[in-house]
Amino acid sequence: MQETLNYIQENKQRYIDELFELLKIASISADPAYKNEVLKCAEMCAQHLKNAGADAVEVCQTKGYPIVYGEKILDKNLPTVLVYGHYDVQPPDPLELWKKPPFEPYIEKTEIHPDGAIFARGSADDKGQFFMHIKAFEAMMKTNTLPCNVKFIIEGEEEVGSVSLGDFVNENKEKLSCDCILISDTGLYSKDQPTVTTGLRGLSYMEVEVEGPGRDLHSGLYGGAVPNPIHVLSRMIAQLIDENGRIAIDGFYDNVLELSAEERAEMAKLKDDQEEFKKSISLKGVEGEEGFTTLERTSIRPTLDCNGIWGGYTGEGAKTVIPSKAFAKISMRLVPYQTPDEITEKFTKYFEKIAPDNVKIKVTPHHGGMPYVLPSDTKEFVAAKKAMETAFGKEVLPYRSGGSIPITAMFEQVLGAKSVLMGFGLDSDAIHSPNEHYGLFNFYKGIESIPLFFENYAKM
Ligand code: BES
Ligand code: MN
Ligand code: MN
Repeated sequence: MQETLNYIQENKQRYIDELFELLKIASISADPAYKNEVLKCAEMCAQHLKNAGADAVEVCQTKGYPIVYGEKILDKNLPTVLVYGHYDVQPPDPLELWKKPPFEPYIEKTEIHPDGAIFARGSADDKGQFFMHIKAFEAMMKTNTLPCNVKFIIEGEEEVGSVSLGDFVNENKEKLSCDCILISDTGLYSKDQPTVTTGLRGLSYMEVEVEGPGRDLHSGLYGGAVPNPIHVLSRMIAQLIDENGRIAIDGFYDNVLELSAEERAEMAKLKDDQEEFKKSISLKGVEGEEGFTTLERTSIRPTLDCNGIWGGYTGEGAKTVIPSKAFAKISMRLVPYQTPDEITEKFTKYFEKIAPDNVKIKVTPHHGGMPYVLPSDTKEFVAAKKAMETAFGKEVLPYRSGGSIPITAMFEQVLGAKSVLMGFGLDSDAIHSPNEHYGLFNFYKGIESIPLFFENYAKM
């Protein structure tokens, strides 16, 4: 192991230089204008896998963006770890809030990252994180210390719902067969408290439309006598959550797995500092479901949020209009054993129920995803915990995160293997936001933890 760690140490600077090249590519999967950049990024990932020593490297075409594959099979009798990551990134807007352009990476020190952090879209989500795996793999290959088989799949549509990956996994069960899946696309609980992520929430995402009059109206001639769709929609949104912070949709909590008192006590070992939490997001006061802590509200409880709302006149100056339509995007984070199909149906029924008779409504579901839990008595969890404890020199706790990676549940269902989420980001890294960054300390700790994971897992 020391040899591998030495190799990493000696090649530290080159790793950063190479990552910078990857971060310069604007692989925005949501925006078709960036198609060539996304494709270029896939090619660069394939080249990195080859250079690191992977065999059978392939840029696999799909109906959408390609999936990059590579493997190193040492011996069929050894266990196989499948590494998953995504090379696509979120759109960087609003651009004016970035200190420097999002695809021109640079390093700067911050309060939380005194050793410096790499600023660029995708630095933490997920280029900087899957790149740790390629570099750890390179180190194991170059020092002849890879202890088991490894396969890589790096996709280009995670940020738009992994549309093609589902089919790809179903059609390539043999190719992707493995004993476990290793993913770095999550974060640590905090800078001082390293964690292995043992759960992710699911997702159900809806778009709603309320139509009042058949055309936009002069608010002087018609105002006061017709339903204004913006008002109606606002009233409907207000009825989605009750005064206790509970989601009012009929049957919403039916399948929610309630944690035992012991499980909640175990969770409470993670320091839930309210002052720090508020300060970190410049917030005056928290709110949420009554009877649960902030940590519980953001991890083991399901939630509902309006993500966008529009309609009517939003341009310069004033326009006296009653719009014909109003719209909103509403998402729900799910926990075991809720399913996106069930929740989509319950949401739609409820939304129809609370709609007044004098408007038309339309509810359109977008992509969703299942929640995921990795029990802490699995060898995947134990191997990751031990690896990170060695790398960080601290006790590592389990932590259920509030984010979603829908493919984890699908991997389990189709490949019959557990995913272990060994992510190294921090909530303050501003993923999906302007000035996304990834700490150099986190990047290197990740690269060190990975060979340790392989070593532990191969022995189990
Ligand atoms: N890497 C994130 C998910 C994440 C981040 C989980 C931090 C836990 C901690 C992923 O790229 C992501 O953004 N997922 C989306 C869902 C997806 C279906 C668009 C999300 O969680 O909103
Ligand atoms: Mn991600
Ligand atoms: Mn993301």
